[in-house]
Amino acid sequence: MEHTEVLVHPVERPMDMVAGNVVGRVVGRVVGRVVDGVADGAGHPGETTPPDPLARLRAAAEARRAAGLGRALRPRTPDHDGLLDLASNDYLGLSRDERLVEAAVRAARAWGTGSTGSRLVTGTTTLHADLEDRLRGFTGAARALVFSSGYLANLAAVATLGAGGLVVSDAGNHASLIDGCRLSRARVAVTPHKDADAVDKALAGRAEEHALVVTDAVFSVEGDLAPLRELHEVAVRHGALLLVDEAHSLGVVGERGQGAVHAAGLAGHPSVVITVTLSKALGSQGGGVLAAPEVVDTLVDAGRAFIFDTGLAPSSAAAALAALDIVSDHPDLPGQARRHASLLARAAEERGLPATTPAAAVVPVVLGPPEAALGAAAVFAEHGVRAGCFRPPSVPPGLSCLRLTARANLGSDDLAVIGRALTAVAEMKVTV
Ligand SMILES: Cc1ncc(COP(=O)(O)O)c(C=O)c1O
Repeated sequence: MEHTEVLVHPVERPMDMVAGNVVGRVVGRVVGRVVDGVADGAGHPGETTPPDPLARLRAAAEARRAAGLGRALRPRTPDHDGLLDLASNDYLGLSRDERLVEAAVRAARAWGTGSTGSRLVTGTTTLHADLEDRLRGFTGAARALVFSSGYLANLAAVATLGAGGLVVSDAGNHASLIDGCRLSRARVAVTPHKDADAVDKALAGRAEEHALVVTDAVFSVEGDLAPLRELHEVAVRHGALLLVDEAHSLGVVGERGQGAVHAAGLAGHPSVVITVTLSKALGSQGGGVLAAPEVVDTLVDAGRAFIFDTGLAPSSAAAALAALDIVSDHPDLPGQARRHASLLARAAEERGLPATTPAAAVVPVVLGPPEAALGAAAVFAEHGVRAGCFRPPSVPPGLSCLRLTARANLGSDDLAVIGRALTAVAEMKVTV
């Protein structure tokens, strides 16, 4: 089957399909007007005016704004514009920690500001090797390979390991995993959210020799945990690899933050491939793959997103190493982040807002239409709190939400302010 036919996840639809095709229809009308204008004789007699290649982009942007789906970049100040940060993924509050900053500065002085080349040419330093060793030890994996971002780690792992086989992908997976599916050119079976039986059926019915099951550990918006033991049992029974994206669980889930795979007792299992980001709980920037030697060797030899990308900046590697030191010295940090997430969810529920007990630090409060989520984010800002606001295509239509992220370093004053903001949102009375 053509990969383009099968690779649109139910939650990841092209922008022109969002909001019941409204955007597509409006774009058609607006582009039609522009093109009609050209056909109607703008320009000199006898001259043909070529179509404006940007017209459809302007029309699509106009349609997205009309549907409440426009987006804007808002540069912030170092202190988050004076707002309490409840939108970043800085789960352990380490991104501004002096120990990370100092380590990054020292690395930049020693190695320069960039890694200067692909990991395979000049982009591997002793810092990269140290970081790989530490990540491997922390998660209990056999080998590690670091990337310049978590997005690229997912692209490389899914595209390379999935190629020529079947990829079974959870409907709630992150965009970077979905894009890895697309890039793999494999046949992709999208299974309902957290449905191990559906994964079992997809694997049992396959004609392909090899298969890869792909899932987030903690889903990036819903904040819930994948059934890792069940998925692993199914994958092993069918001779498939299980790839688990620990972007939201490394440093947060498990007694000492070693991640959801470790907590499920699957650390170091040869059929498990872990991907991570260094840019959330570890407060740095970059990504990694933790897996059996055969997997890492394959990515070094054939992972295009690894080979053709400039290696992780030395300062980012050094900051991630410093973060791993802190997490090892303060094993209470992951538990604090999780406890604060539970307090946020309970505070929302007590005010009649839908929130479920979170598996990690992500607490979504579903409000329904995009306008309700935008309105709630504005109410939070009025109360001095910056909250994430998620709308289609980041979430399915009708499930726009506030995405609150707990941090280990929230204080009781912070929690009181957040409580007041939640009360004001509950009084908006705009829910699903
Ligand atoms: C689940 C998940 N995987 C991967 C990534 C990508 O990681 P990075 O930001 O390091 O590219 C993200 C980041 O938003 C994510 O949420």
